Amino acid sequence: MIEYRTGGLVVSEGQLDSPGTYLPFDSMQMFRAAWELPAQCAAAWRLGQEAALPPAKRYRNIVVAGLGGSAIGGDLLRVFTAGRLGIPVVVNRDYRLPRFVDDGTLVFVVSYSGNTEETLSAYEDARAKGASLVALTAGGKLGERAKADGVPLVAIPAGIAPRAATGYLFLPTLAVLERLSLLEGMAAEVDGLVQHLEALRGQYGPDTPVEQNPAKKLAKSLYGRLPVIWGVAGTTEVAAQRWKGQINENAKAPAYWNVFPELNHNEIVGFEQPGEVLGSIWLVILRDPEDHPRVNLRMEITRSFVGAAAGISEFTASGPTRLARLYSLVYLGDYTSLYLAVLYGTDPGPVRVIDHLKAELGRM
Ligand code: F6R
Repeated sequence: MIEYRTGGLVVSEGQLDSPGTYLPFDSMQMFRAAWELPAQCAAAWRLGQEAALPPAKRYRNIVVAGLGGSAIGGDLLRVFTAGRLGIPVVVNRDYRLPRFVDDGTLVFVVSYSGNTEETLSAYEDARAKGASLVALTAGGKLGERAKADGVPLVAIPAGIAPRAATGYLFLPTLAVLERLSLLEGMAAEVDGLVQHLEALRGQYGPDTPVEQNPAKKLAKSLYGRLPVIWGVAGTTEVAAQRWKGQINENAKAPAYWNVFPELNHNEIVGFEQPGEVLGSIWLVILRDPEDHPRVNLRMEITRSFVGAAAGISEFTASGPTRLARLYSLVYLGDYTSLYLAVLYGTDPGPVRVIDHLKAELGRM
């Protein structure tokens, strides 16, 4: 029997503005980690500057191997670099790596705990295929193996939930790629990101009342509903996927995501029935100023097909740089999922179902 709730924490909507009523129940300090994300990003960037480097050679492709909270940094890297890197970035959430991986591949092996079995398997596969590796971890078996094998290691501080460590799990990869001369101008991107996140936390943080706080307001809309998050391929897709995962893991609630333009070719047809299911859906559309103009048009037309949903909220990425824009919506989703956890009376930190599954697998 798995217990989901802390017990005793029942927070009414109005109490979102009284952090003292719920922060003591946040056993893994998820709110604190969210507040400290800007400093985490700055520290993560420095870690990447100090890390040992893999050989400087003409890489043909890059793979990020990881799962869950450790994989989303790979998607941030993939989307952020799509217009800048001349080689593909592939995110691999599996035991095995694709056939194309060889001695021309740079593989970032990312696992916060260092003990995720799929990631450890991918690490061995990467080595067997002759790829160059960089490991990012707070320890565990991955840390031990990287040290023993002489694999460059970005040693991340331990003690936070993997999904609260996206800065540590992502920004060092940018630093490594810049130091390998594959990217440029990253310091300005990271500065812009840190400053923008500092500004945003003033809007999203627990001390900002519901009326001025888009994250709290949205959590109230999502409460009791089925969140369906729609992003855009190449821009807000990472944020949409992240929102889904954060609602699942923090609020312990279902959520689904998809992207424009693909959802225009299937998902919108599914808004005719059944009414009671559709009426529980709250749509969240995540946009970026760089979205293709035809995609913007698609969004307008799409809204006319989804009237059966309970409601639609729309947010546009903000920030001085592309990196800041990518992260701005991730940050809004992180805070929204934390407030939704509060409304559901759930301790946002522990993910007992995942721990249980890993423990069961560990016995087999
Ligand atoms: C937990 C979380 C999970 C883990 C995933 C992989 O906070 O976000 O999605 O990230 O189970 O574990 P790690 O990150 O330790 O490799």
